[in-house]
Amino acid sequence: MLKFKLIKSTFYNEADTKQKLCDFIMHAEQLSLGEQCASFEKEFAEWQRRKYCVMFNSGSSANLALIQSLRNLSRLNEGDTVGFSAITWATNVMPLIQHGLTPVPVDIEVSSLNTSPAILEKALQNTELKALFLTNLLGFSDDIATIKKICEDKGIILLEDNCEALGSEYAGIKLGNFGLASTFSFFVGHHMSTIEGGAVCTDDEELYHALLMARSHGWDRHLTPAKQDMLRAEHNVDDFYAKYTFYDPAYNVRPTEIQGFLGRNQLQYLDEIIEQREKNFKALSPIYNNPRFEELSPQMSKNSNFAFPIICKDRATKDAYIKKSNEMGIEIRPIISTFMPEQPFFKKYVGGTYDLPNALFIHENGFYFGNHPEITEEELQTLLETFE
Ligand SMILES: Cc1ncc(COP(=O)(O)O)c(C=O)c1O
Repeated sequence: MLKFKLIKSTFYNEADTKQKLCDFIMHAEQLSLGEQCASFEKEFAEWQRRKYCVMFNSGSSANLALIQSLRNLSRLNEGDTVGFSAITWATNVMPLIQHGLTPVPVDIEVSSLNTSPAILEKALQNTELKALFLTNLLGFSDDIATIKKICEDKGIILLEDNCEALGSEYAGIKLGNFGLASTFSFFVGHHMSTIEGGAVCTDDEELYHALLMARSHGWDRHLTPAKQDMLRAEHNVDDFYAKYTFYDPAYNVRPTEIQGFLGRNQLQYLDEIIEQREKNFKALSPIYNNPRFEELSPQMSKNSNFAFPIICKDRATKDAYIKKSNEMGIEIRPIISTFMPEQPFFKKYVGGTYDLPNALFIHENGFYFGNHPEITEEELQTLLETFE
């Protein structure tokens, strides 16, 4: 029996949130994309300190629509090489393959679990990148400000998969605000849950419009009247056909009003959730003094920790701690999607051999257990005793 699961509940303040959700559903006139989602997007963009937010039905959809939008705008073209963090989630990489791009894994540091300026510089000696789709893994980052600078200097489009790092900050700037655009997941167990859900944030108006179209069939219905007029004139579309004109390849990856409502509800607790996750991480940090583990030293000014990672110095230690965790009823997992070049989908569609010693080491020797705002003092103590 698991005594310590990755998460305890679907929502923060669960009973009250479920009650409010029931009331909302009973009285709502519309449950498909509408006012709740629009308000959430405004409020979330404000919270994240970005100009625009587009909500999606998942973080994976946000990644997919972001890459589709960049293709539709010809900012990425077939065959372009796009770097990605060698340890990330599978649906960070899949859209690159699906859009005919060439994905290239970039190694990460053991100390921060993220790509560093030094690793990026080294990778750029052999490979020219058109874009870098960085993952801020488990709420951590490396020196992302310098990575941004390198990308700017070399004309590389920086994108952030921030699905695991909502609320973390580097030098006082929220992760997700360093790249041209950033993606978020609101799946259960992430910092903020709308059951399923996601978003893209950006300050780029043209990309914002492309995202609105990629989310919804490629039509112009969610654009401003001025933008609609422009498109209709350019394509010679009259009023009768305007609503049924499809300008670019797209999907239907819209959220529902249920997700919009939940997003607005949970957003009011987000700062509290982040504070609690950071507090838990600090309380658990003595675990890194265990000489059998690597010392992790992520570089953020705020650590909105997603889960608590442990990288053992060798495989035998990892196996011993897997056994111990099972005995203690502590749920643990590999470091997210593990080592991407070994994933069957990657071997099937991309293949190749890559020199990624750190990512491989983390894959072979790492695991994580959950960090969430409802961990009790007693549970923190048990975790410390188990791993310290
Ligand atoms: C880094 C990263 N990107 C993307 C996703 C996909 O998000 P979703 O589960 O909302 O589709 C996840 C999911 O956990 C993730 O960890």
